[in-house]
Parts: sequence; structure tokens; C-alpha cells
Amino acid sequence: MHTGGIAILDYGSQYTQLIARRLRENGVYAEIFAWDAPPERVLAAAPRGLILSGGPASVYDADAPTLPTYVWNGNLPVLGICYGMQVMAHALGGTVAGAAHREYGPAEVDLRGESPLFVGLSRRIAVYMSHGDRVDVLPTGWQPLATTPNAPYAAMGNPDRGWYGVQFHPEVTHTPHGGHILRNFAVGICGCSPNWTPNTIIDEAVAAIRAQVGAGKVILGLSGGVDSSVAAALIHRAVGDQLTCIFIDTGLLRKGEPEQVVATFGRHMGIPLVAVNAAEAFFSALEGITDPEQKRKIIGERFIRAFESEARRLGDAAFLAQGTIYPDVIESGGTRKTARSIKSHHNVGGLPADMNFTLVEPLRNLFKDEVRRIGSVLGLPDEIIWRQPFPGPGLAVRCLGPLTWERVERLRQADAIVTGELSAAGLLRGDTAQAFAVLLPVRSVGVMGDNRTYQEAVAIRAVVTDDFMTASWARLPYEVLARISERIVNEVPGINRVVYDVTTKPPATIEWE
Ligand code: XMP
Repeated sequence: MHTGGIAILDYGSQYTQLIARRLRENGVYAEIFAWDAPPERVLAAAPRGLILSGGPASVYDADAPTLPTYVWNGNLPVLGICYGMQVMAHALGGTVAGAAHREYGPAEVDLRGESPLFVGLSRRIAVYMSHGDRVDVLPTGWQPLATTPNAPYAAMGNPDRGWYGVQFHPEVTHTPHGGHILRNFAVGICGCSPNWTPNTIIDEAVAAIRAQVGAGKVILGLSGGVDSSVAAALIHRAVGDQLTCIFIDTGLLRKGEPEQVVATFGRHMGIPLVAVNAAEAFFSALEGITDPEQKRKIIGERFIRAFESEARRLGDAAFLAQGTIYPDVIESGGTRKTARSIKSHHNVGGLPADMNFTLVEPLRNLFKDEVRRIGSVLGLPDEIIWRQPFPGPGLAVRCLGPLTWERVERLRQADAIVTGELSAAGLLRGDTAQAFAVLLPVRSVGVMGDNRTYQEAVAIRAVVTDDFMTASWARLPYEVLARISERIVNEVPGINRVVYDVTTKPPATIEWE
């Protein structure tokens, strides 16, 4: 447990995770709790300050979230953001009212007086506003620190107590100096040390793994994706050959992937690795299946069975390691409502329900960018650190219609051309978050040489997204699309047509199944 950071109380804002990310980018450890989490949990890691997030409520709503008593009775500095500011003002005797004009979007605020919260900034700063209510009367002992034409108290402070509030959102990128403001609060006002660096993260994780595992044996389902790979590298650094990785080749992976995983982990990193080729079992279980959900279910079950039998063979491991990361923990945690299920997601390495292991989850507190950074320091190659997300069910959900060896191989070849060309054009690491080929179960007429063809079509899917919850299609250069299309129809037998998917998510999803 990293001590001396910032505890964030979540009032339900869509930006709460960003507060933690901005702080951590500035070297300050931050952890998120539900606003009404038990005080002893929030204070367990001895935070030096508290941040109250924004949220959708109004302080006058019947069941509006409130300011917990330990927050205003305690001695810790507090920064309230948006609703967090309003809930402080309301609880401490100020007045909150509906603003004549709601403010959404960019605004400029003028700073008043000198405040440690704004040290190092010019007198007028660009910010991002998103609020209906605003503070109209300050509680006793508080001073105005910033104004906009529409909000007399765009920021307020009670410096004697170390209490501050801002109406705008310093955590979003549209507030260019927001990270600076959060750092001023955490380091300048709370006295946090900016010591949350990759090396500290690794040292603390290694110590925690050693303490948990002792001399026990650990197994880990390795998919070759960044999370399970970094978890493997970290656990190996902590307990060496007590770790064995199990890699299951489902026959549904991309070109060269099984070989790359074996080479990287077995040879390059020297981690004991059991690679199992279970392709036969997967293909025979999937024979004749075309329904997407059924495919996902069968693959999930097969995967668990293959993993289980390998784990049994290895015998005496008491621990199962998983690459669960912080956003997974936050999304499945208390304050958040579970979303309606669109697809039954399956993550390679998921815990078989009835297996008797203790879980080791060394990345449970880390964001994806932190996972990548420590992965680099641990010596993982760039191809793994920057690998695009790949669904657990693999090519099965990109090969629409029945799954045969021949069709999956056709897709694999087309996909290698898509990623190869994008990578050669330098387009795979930048904006394009994910790009791949999809094999369609339709045939169309074409002409090759003097002959009529009647063959399948491939769709190219390439998306730009930050969070994979929404996405737009990548505006790939025509020349690159042309080269991909030309190569696929010339080099991959059985395909005579290539189309480009120009649908956003929503209403489409990123994968086709
Ligand atoms: P969709 O298709 O739902 O995909 O827009 C969003 C992101 O999730 C990935 N995806 C999966 N990842 N197991 C995973 O680990 C799965 O079963 C799965 N299905 C989709 C998809 O590639 C995209 O990045």
C-alpha cells in the first residue's frame, strides 16, 4: 500500500478517474473511494489530502450525496471540484443556487488575490466548465479565489484550514494547466512527495508480491497482451522461477503471435512457460457455430478447461496471477452501476470459478499508462507494450459465419497485411487505437485476369478512440487503403473484394461480433 498520497471521494462524475490519472502523472499517488466509503478505509493509507470529485446531483436533491463528517471534522486539506465544491459550500453554511446560465465547455477565469492553489499561473486561465448549480454565498472564513462573468466564485478557499473549491474541472485536458493546479494542491498544500515513479511502483509491487506469495508457487495465464505480460514480468522479478506461465494457443490468434509470446517470455525473459496448442479442441467445439454469443461462450468454456488441465498437471501452485488493472476495479466497484451487457466479454486468464487458488493481482492499482511504463522499465519489448487490444475470443469474432481452418487462415493473412501496411506507414502507434481485418460470410462476383471469380469479402476496421467506449473510424490515407486492398486481393486466396468500415461506435461496436 503506497502511503502519503491523495484520497479521492467519488461523487459520480464521469471524470473521477481522470483526477487520479492527472495526479499520478504528476508523481503523486491517488486512490478513488466511494464518497460514502467507511472513513477507516479511506484513511488506511494515511492520505495527506482529500479531493471531492464532481457529480451529477444537485445539493438540494432529496437523496443528494453529502459531505462526510470526518472530512470537515478532520485536519486534512480538501479540494472540492464542481459538485465537490458545492457540497462543501452547502455543508459549511454557504449557499448554492441554480445558475442563470448553465456553463458547459471552455471558459476563462480571472484569478483573485494570491493562493497556493494557483501558484505559477497567469492571472487569467483557460478552464473547462460543466455545471448547472453554482456557489452564490461563501461560507464564513472563505475567500473568493477566481471569477467568471457567470460564476462569482469560480474558485474559493479557506487557507487556514487548507480547504479549497473549484467550479471548473482541472482534471480534463481542456483545462490546460489543470495538472499544475492539482499538483499545487497535492504537493504545495498537502505536502505529498511526488515519488510515484515507475521504479517506486515496481519496488512496492515486488515487496507486496513477495510478502503475499512467500515460497509458494504461482501460475499465470499469459495471453501476450500488455496486462498479463507486465504482470508476468513483475511477478518473475519478485519470485523468479516460482512463477510458471501458461500460454494457450487457441488457433485463433494473429499471425506470428504464438511464436512471439514463446520467444519473448521463454527465451528473452527466461520465464518458465508452458505453451499448449489447443487449436484442435477449439475448432472442433466451434464447428458449425455461427451465432456470436455462442462462439464467445464456447471459447470461454474451452479456455477454462484447457487452462484447468494444464494447471492440474503442474500440480502444486497455490496462487493464480491475473493482470486486472485499476479501471476494471473501479468499474466493477461500489459506486458504479453495471452497464447492460452487449457482449459477453471473455478475458484470457480469467479465473475459473471453482478453482481453489489465492489471487495475485499486482496491477490492481495501476492505470494502463502506468502498466506500460513499468513494462518498459522491466525490459518488455515495444511490440508487447504497445500491442493493440485483442479480444479474448480472438479471430473467432472477426471471422463472421462458420469457423473453418481455411477461413480463419484467410482472415489471418488479410489481417497481417492490414497491420503490416499500417505499421509501415507509421499509423499503428499514433491515433489509430485498433485496426484489423474482418472476414465476411458473403461472396461477390469479380474478375481476375480473364476469369470470373466468386469469392469472399474482407472489411477493414480501424478506429480512433481514447477509452474504447465510443470510437470513430480512422481517416486513413487513401494510398494506404489502396495498398492494403491491392495486396489482400492479390495475395490472399479466396478474397476478391475489400471494403472499409465507416461506422462510429455507437451505434456500431468496434468488433463485428
Ligand atoms: P466492442 O466490440 O465491444 O469492443 O466495441 C470494445 C473493445 O473491447 C475489445 N473486446 C474484448 N476484449 N475480451 C476482451 O478482452 C473480449 O471478449 C472482447 N470483446 C471485445 C475490443 O477489441 C475493443 O478493444
